[in-house]
Amino acid sequence: MSEPIRVVVTGAAGQIAYSLLYMVARGEVFGRDQPLILHLLDIPPMAGVLEGVVMELADCALPLVREVVPTTDPAVAFKDVSAAFLVGSMPRKEGMERKDLLSANVKIFKVQGQALDKFARKDIKVLVVGNPANTNALVCSHYAPSIPKENFSAMTRLDQNRGTAQIAAKLSLPISAVSNVIIWGNHSATQFPDARSAKAIINGTEKAVWDAIGDTSFLEGPFVEIVQKRGAAVIAARKMSSAMSAAKAACDHMHDWWNGTKPGQFVSMGVISDGSYGAPKDVVFSFPVEIKNKQWSIVQGLTLDDFAKSKLAITSKELLEEKTEAMAVCNAE
Ligand code: NAI
Repeated sequence: MSEPIRVVVTGAAGQIAYSLLYMVARGEVFGRDQPLILHLLDIPPMAGVLEGVVMELADCALPLVREVVPTTDPAVAFKDVSAAFLVGSMPRKEGMERKDLLSANVKIFKVQGQALDKFARKDIKVLVVGNPANTNALVCSHYAPSIPKENFSAMTRLDQNRGTAQIAAKLSLPISAVSNVIIWGNHSATQFPDARSAKAIINGTEKAVWDAIGDTSFLEGPFVEIVQKRGAAVIAARKMSSAMSAAKAACDHMHDWWNGTKPGQFVSMGVISDGSYGAPKDVVFSFPVEIKNKQWSIVQGLTLDDFAKSKLAITSKELLEEKTEAMAVCNAE
């Protein structure tokens, strides 16, 4: 057995963390032979609930969990951590403008970026789940200049998983037969779910999903909208936002970052943009990436038609607006 690694989950008293902590603690992300010290961060009013989560983790009797550190202090939460799931954020309240939400969350991710900079390992892998995830990741990285920008990412894996599930259902295939669905841009309603590069194994042969479905109007219409609006559909049905599926996607994201992607397959992650595919530079943009030795690289050479380019332009514009608003809040402090 290797030495334990320290993993932090923020928003640890919330609903996504409730599913996420169990999956991480079982060894589904870092491996079934990797012992863990779990750091659980939430805000002071949630300290009591956090104690309950600690009790349940103990009662799960999981062999990989060597220690659990519940805290409301970012300095303790981020001390020597190797991986961070930044789930905790301010939820949107009734009557709250998007701008107010962004402003509240930017402040949280500024503080957490500063604490990561001071206390975390420099090779830490940071996954931001809390919304607005892309811009929160950008702010967090901005305030942690001693950690490489490549070590910060935002989650669009839930959108990718939703898209993959839609394609598998349409083709009546098991989920494992479908790969390379791409999410471009922001984790918001402007994201562009794209099946142009997706592949499916049909009767033992690899085929392009685009040809197998053979219905451009579906792939450019309902498919895109279902994925874009899936979060809202879950809220309408469950009266609460996606939690089990968000936790699973966070595990998938970190698992692939830690362990690498399979040859020929890629996954979508919000990462710092180098301007690939005409995306604006220096925003956290979701791209298709391949991962080796814990380093991601943006998949190059995919063809974007005019429809795809127009969709990328919409989500790019939104990310630039969010960046401007976020930096204005940071600079005003
Ligand atoms: P929740 O409200 O159940 O839990 C959030 C937790 O974060 C609460 O316990 C709260 O006290 C805590 N928190 C707030 N401020 C904090 C801070 N400064 N430090 C540490 N903890 C803090 O919310 P839920 O359902 O767990 O969702 C969490 C976030 O994930 C939300 O922002 C949600 O919009 C986002 N989300 C993102 C998805 C994605 O695909 N990127 C998918 C689904 C949700």
